[in-house]
Amino acid sequence: MNELIRDKIKQSKTLRGPFPSFDIEKTPNNPHCLFEEWFQFAIDNDVYEPHSMTLSTVDKQGYPDSRVLILKDIDEEGWYFATSSLSKKGEQLRHNPNVSLCFYWSIVGRQIRIRGTVKKMSQNLSSLDFMKRGTVAKAVALIEKQSQVLEDPAEFENALTEKLIGLKDDPSLVSSSWSLYQVDAREVEYWQANEDRKHIRLVYRLDGDRWTKNILWP
Ligand SMILES: Cc1cc2nc3c(=O)[nH]c(=O)nc-3n(C[C@H](O)[C@H](O)[C@H](O)COP(=O)(O)O)c2cc1C
Repeated sequence: MNELIRDKIKQSKTLRGPFPSFDIEKTPNNPHCLFEEWFQFAIDNDVYEPHSMTLSTVDKQGYPDSRVLILKDIDEEGWYFATSSLSKKGEQLRHNPNVSLCFYWSIVGRQIRIRGTVKKMSQNLSSLDFMKRGTVAKAVALIEKQSQVLEDPAEFENALTEKLIGLKDDPSLVSSSWSLYQVDAREVEYWQANEDRKHIRLVYRLDGDRWTKNILWP
């Protein structure tokens, strides 16, 4: 291993601030509303791609798997992402719908962790999401091979060209595997960094049909 890089890792600074305050007393009674408040705050503070989040799933053997996805929407029912149901994560979700989402916005020292269960939305809603994608993104999805082994990069280029031509002929083409998923949360934690390491943690947990709030030790 490169010693220089190892030293750089050890010397790297984190959570330098300055960070905003987080007044737990003023938080809403449900985590979805607080997400909206924090998301607006992230936008106001120029957080880069605040809608990027880590989705963790679990495979058949019980091993967790994580990757970054785009948050597509949020409402009272949950958080939404879209992907191919034929992908590795799609297969994992079919087997085990339990997931977690994690957002980290370093410039404001905020982390949001969401644990819940996914529900696959209707083909109609999935198609509407697909139609909002750019042409190349649509063409890539139409190949329907996400997460499969690519033996030769030329195969990808050829398949992409073919799908782009197909889309030019018929712009209404929709991938049959493209799926919108809803994460129905049962636990959501809001974590605010503090320069003096007195980090603030607030967790919402679903108890029946109401949310409870607790502060956690940092
Ligand atoms: C910023 C960013 C956004 C991404 N957004 C998506 C997305 O919305 N949907 C998607 O299927 N993959 C997205 N990806 C690619 C995934 O991270 C991942 O490589 C892909 O979905 C395959 O994952 P899987 O093999 O676990 O199924 C994104 C990657 C990055 C870095």
